[in-house]
This record gives sequence, structure tokens and C-alpha cells, in this order.
Amino acid sequence: MTTPPTQGQISTEIAEEREAYAKAVAGGAPRRSHPDRGYAPYRSSVLRHPRQPLVAVHAPDAVELSGPVFGVTDVTALDHDLTRQHRAEPLGERIRVTGRVLDRAGRPVRGQLIEIWQANASGRYAHQRDDHPAPLDPNFTGVGRCLTDHQGGYEFVTVKPGAYPWRNHTNAWRPAHIHFSLFGSAFTQRLVTQMYFPGDPLFAHDPILQSVTDDTARRRLVATYDHDLSTPEWSLGYRWDIVLDGPSATWTEEGR
Ligand SMILES: [Fe+2]
Repeated sequence: MTTPPTQGQISTEIAEEREAYAKAVAGGAPRRSHPDRGYAPYRSSVLRHPRQPLVAVHAPDAVELSGPVFGVTDVTALDHDLTRQHRAEPLGERIRVTGRVLDRAGRPVRGQLIEIWQANASGRYAHQRDDHPAPLDPNFTGVGRCLTDHQGGYEFVTVKPGAYPWRNHTNAWRPAHIHFSLFGSAFTQRLVTQMYFPGDPLFAHDPILQSVTDDTARRRLVATYDHDLSTPEWSLGYRWDIVLDGPSATWTEEGR
């Protein structure tokens, strides 16, 4: 068995990747909003990305016809509130997360199914594969969904997720984050990404966030604290817009 790398080794690799990217951009290479599929500091990504050219599906209609579908009636008004899914309220810092889904021209993307999933306030997922010894919360499942409105707006009420350890390297911890999925108008259009919280001290140590080597693109994954979104005596608020393509696009896990 090989010894897992230390945080120091991973941080050195992250710095080398960033330096190589800066050098490439200085040499005239285009800026990249998306990470390399084989970003080495994120160890498991190296093992699972495609090594052969992708095979084009010539009849995408068939894929979409056999894929799952949803209708607006499937999403209820309470699905966006992760604090009201059980008999009592979950523990943690109550937050509202809101923003807009926009296309490259800044136009609202309406009627999009947005799904989120996240760890509880202690950094534990309600999932059988999560064996991190932090407490489960019987009043928190950590999943929610909503449809974007006419302005492309979405909103979730939840609790701030905790950081959690993972086994990329010794003492690897993920910064607090919420997973987002945008369904698009068909199964083959699904986009997946992650939202982070401003000022998290774990940013520099996390090879998943750092796999986006472009500083500007990486910053777009971090929500803005917005005091006007807080509800007095109740919750704090964060704003996070998602841009689907173009130079201001939010990085997604598409094609990984
Ligand atoms: Fe996660």
C-alpha cells in the first residue's frame, strides 16, 4: 500500500499546476474556465476521466425519449426549504441562498429544475457511503429542488453545511459547499457544479476547487454574502448567480 500524500505535497502540486497555467496564458494560450480532466492533485479524477475520444451519439432524441422526465407539478412549493422537511428544524446556521440562472447574453433562463444536495451543519451527508464520524441530524436530509421563475431566479432555505474530511490525501478537508444540478430541458443537458461560501480558510487546500486554475473562474464558484438577504432574527443570506455559457460561465462538471 502506498502512503497517501500529505497536504504539503498536494499544495505543492496545486501551486505547480497554477504556475503552469499562468505561464501558458502569458504565452498566449486562451484562458480556461474549466479544469483539466486529469487534474493530478485531485487523485481520483486522474483514474476516471476518459482516455479515448468521446463517441458522438448520433440520435440524441432516442436518449432523451428514454431518459427520466419531470413536470412542473412534480415540484412542490416546499421542496426548496430544506429546514421544513421533517418534524422539527435541523441544527445549524439558517441561510437563504438565492440567485439567477442566466445565459451568455445575461438573459434569464426560466423554468429550470435546480436540485441541490449538501452535508448537514456537522459536515455529514445523510448517505450510507458517508462514514465520517460526525453526527447525523434526524431533521435534515440535505436535498432540495425548485424551478427558476420568470426572471431566472431561484431560492433555497437551508442550513450552512459543515466542512468534511475526504481521503484524497492525509488530512484532506472539503470547504463548505452546496452541490447544484441544473436539469436543462432534457436529460442530456444536465449540468452539475458546486457553490462555496466566501472567506473559507480551506479554499487554498482543496484540490477540487483549485482544479479550476483560472482565478476569475474560480471566484465565480463563491457566493456573495448579502446582508439584505438576511431575515432579521431568522437567517443570513447568500447570492449566487449561475451563467450557463460564454466568458462568464460558471464552471460545471459537464463531460467529466
Ligand atoms: Fe460534497
